[in-house]
Amino acid sequence: MSLDTSSRPNEAAPAVPALTTSYYAPPKAAIDPDQDKSWLRRALPVVVAHRATFITSLTLSFLGLVLQVEIPQLLGTDALDKAIVPFVGHSGLPASHYERLLLHYVVIVMVLAVLAGIFGYVARRLLMTTAYAIEFDLRNIIYTHLSRMSFDFYDRVQSGQLISRANSDIRSVQMYLTFGPSIVVQCLVAVVAFGYMASINVLLAVVAMAAMPFIYVLSVRMRHVLFPVSWLIQSRLADVATIVDENINGVRILKSFAAEDQQLTALARAAERLRWAYVKDADIRARFTPLVQNLSQVGLALVLLLGGYLVIHDHLQVGTILSFSFWIVMLQAPFQMLGMLIMLGQRASASAKRIYEILDEHPTIVDRPGAVDLIDCRGDVRFDSVSFSYSPDGSAAGPLVLDGFDLHLRPGETVALVGRTGSGKSTVARLLDRFYDVNRGAVRIDGHDVRDLTLSSLRAQIGIVLDEPFLFSVSVRDNIAYGRPDADFADIEAAAEAAGADEFIRELSEGYDTVVGERGYTLSGGQRQRVSIARALLLNPPILVLDDATSAIDVQVEQAIHRNLQGLMEGRTTLIVAHRLSTISLADRVVLMDAGRVVAEGTHAELMRTVPLYGEVLAQAEELERLQVDGEELS
Ligand SMILES: Nc1ncnc2c1ncn2[C@@H]1O[C@H](COP(=O)(O)OP(=O)(O)OP(=O)(O)O)[C@@H](O)[C@H]1O
Ligand SMILES: [Mg+2]
Repeated sequence: MSLDTSSRPNEAAPAVPALTTSYYAPPKAAIDPDQDKSWLRRALPVVVAHRATFITSLTLSFLGLVLQVEIPQLLGTDALDKAIVPFVGHSGLPASHYERLLLHYVVIVMVLAVLAGIFGYVARRLLMTTAYAIEFDLRNIIYTHLSRMSFDFYDRVQSGQLISRANSDIRSVQMYLTFGPSIVVQCLVAVVAFGYMASINVLLAVVAMAAMPFIYVLSVRMRHVLFPVSWLIQSRLADVATIVDENINGVRILKSFAAEDQQLTALARAAERLRWAYVKDADIRARFTPLVQNLSQVGLALVLLLGGYLVIHDHLQVGTILSFSFWIVMLQAPFQMLGMLIMLGQRASASAKRIYEILDEHPTIVDRPGAVDLIDCRGDVRFDSVSFSYSPDGSAAGPLVLDGFDLHLRPGETVALVGRTGSGKSTVARLLDRFYDVNRGAVRIDGHDVRDLTLSSLRAQIGIVLDEPFLFSVSVRDNIAYGRPDADFADIEAAAEAAGADEFIRELSEGYDTVVGERGYTLSGGQRQRVSIARALLLNPPILVLDDATSAIDVQVEQAIHRNLQGLMEGRTTLIVAHRLSTISLADRVVLMDAGRVVAEGTHAELMRTVPLYGEVLAQAEELERLQVDGEELS
């Protein structure tokens, strides 16, 4: 979904859905899923989707180049040999005859040049259009795929690196797919040119081409040497970018530890290593380029030698030497590019493999065939001897985080989940929303195993506030309306009020229209939590999960939120992960978990009396927060 902030309605206007307008056009094609095919065959559907522009571009490019190949012939064997040399040789016809002939050829050359120019422009324009269309499709294919992946995938891969790598990989695959055929077309033109030359004089044609294989070999060699250096440059550029990025994002830590010098030294070192790689790159190019260029001079010299000899002995007309010279210069480029094509191919193949690695992974959490929608949810939640482990490698081999976890939340009940840090509280919340699937046992809502329900209907019934509240770089209003983009402003306000967020939002410079998040106004941790709570409340879900949702909110504000929540929680099944006594006081029942299972449950007072661990956990939490909480009010 595109986050469109430009067409945000103003407050007075009737609520226009702020986030529902989607400008997203799905990619025209997909990568062939058959992993046995070569990378090129798998990518073919993406190219074929743009065949119209691509083929037109290649055809025009071919025609334009054929016209250009015609020009040396007109200059040498036609104009020079037919209009100039005979006059110099006093053939007897008046000068005006030759002048007319000359003009005739000049006009043809100019017309051809203009036509070739137009063809070249259109061809190039269409080629780039195709290139970026292919790039656009590849990017969409990858990001669409990424957005479908389940949480375990993101636990395993480093998403930042994934995305930056995907960008350069997409570019190198795109380059090969579009420029590859275009280079092949240019080489085809070389064949045409050779045909022209051979039709004039086969021996001379062969001599003219003598240097070409060497040009090809040299340019392959150059790319071969350049290849590792260009990778080095890429990775060192990334190093520099990482350091700069960390310096900016971590500037507060950096300054508070007075570590500026240390960071500058690290940056200077990385920059020096990058400079070395760039100089190495320049050095290699400087060695090879003159060599390649001089090779075609050798070709020219050979043509002059043999051609001159043939002219002197009357086997050839002088204009041929001129034509051949132009052709040699013209042919040098395709042979050089042919060398480049091979390297492009190697790079693209490596890139494609990395892209396919992502695309060949499939989301693990999907609707099973025949999954039903959860409708008219009563809010009966049951964890049935659930065992679960996070599996770093996709297998189920990790340590058990939940081990025979049993819990029943009756419709409308509010349960506080208490436990040491790392005991698995957040994991319980994640399993309820089916971020992961259980290894054994089942999570049931209204008696349905969550794996038998459609994901969209399941998640629509559960409002969840995660322990790490995340806000998007859009307005506060859009952040709250994230799950219900068509919500009325009055509803948004009401949700914000219930979450204790309304007051501070109104004090922001642009109120509800203030852009927050990574690229906007920075909210405090507690303010972020309140916006997240409002976001969950706006959904008006029958089941509410608050994972440490008020940990950063001060006690007074928290109490106000609680008063509102108490009203809102009525008729709603609520699971609160809590450390604070004040939060626990909202619950009908307290459940203490340890090492992945429920060890005790009851009211706060009962647990205080009978379970020493409960007191310890609360005391620990209290110590952590250094908060004075009056336990009396609960007992
Ligand atoms: N995405 C993950 N991948 C692998 N292991 C994880 C992941 N998330 C949590 N764990 C591990 O699972 C265990 C339980 O984590 P969980 O987040 O459920 O604890 P918690 O009770 O919510 O702790 P806290 O009170 O600190 O929030 C921990 O040992 C943690 O290291
Ligand atoms: Mg947690």
